[in-house]
Amino acid sequence: MEILYTQTREEGSQKAYELIREALDNGAKVFGLATGSTPEGLYKKLVESDVDFSEAVSVNLDEYVGLPGTHEQSYRYFMEQNLFNHKPFKESYVPNGMNEEKAEIEHYEAILEKYPVDVQILGIGHNGHIAFNEPGTPLNSLTHKVELTQSTINANKRFFEKEEDVPRQAYSMGLASIMKAKKIILLAFGEDKAQAIKDLVTATEPTEDIPSTVLVNHPDVIVIVDEAAASLIK
Ligand code: GLP
Repeated sequence: MEILYTQTREEGSQKAYELIREALDNGAKVFGLATGSTPEGLYKKLVESDVDFSEAVSVNLDEYVGLPGTHEQSYRYFMEQNLFNHKPFKESYVPNGMNEEKAEIEHYEAILEKYPVDVQILGIGHNGHIAFNEPGTPLNSLTHKVELTQSTINANKRFFEKEEDVPRQAYSMGLASIMKAKKIILLAFGEDKAQAIKDLVTATEPTEDIPSTVLVNHPDVIVIVDEAAASLIK
């Protein structure tokens, strides 16, 4: 696991942008994308650039169950606003939160099989979750339906009018699905991510209590942090 220390969120987003660009120039075709506030700076840089994804495919990590893609808080909507409307991909996949569980899980795993991810972008939750894989998720999990923890509901309620509006479930790529990506770039900015970053980079082996630690066994992971997120490891 390589750690790239940057000063600011802006610098970290720039680094991530350069890595995506380099991967695309080197023939990467399938990009695993994440939502949340963390990758917003990266998406902004991609939108402002002349990067061309028209021959590439994107596959997103997760989606709230029960929200249609037209809902402002759905992850499909977030991706359209922040990236897809400005930089269209040949095909873009986000789990369908309105689809029935079994059908959606099978459908999404089939997509991942057809389009193995070359570069996966990840954020990280306060409790070490990646995508919506909460603590306790089996390390060998594939795409599945998740019950969100109170910690995640609290963290995400800022995007909704009131806490009761935050969906309680999500469809998420599993930890083993994420591990299949050839290259993984995890971004973490801000002091509130410092503990999660410490838990990740000091782990010597994966533990289900901290889902991000599954990455310890991946051969090509780059963790990009700003000063605040690195404050407990430096
Ligand atoms: C959500 C998403 C994750 C994301 C995390 C952190 O729960 N499912 O993919 O990494 O939140 O979000 P943020 O980047 O807004 O801190």
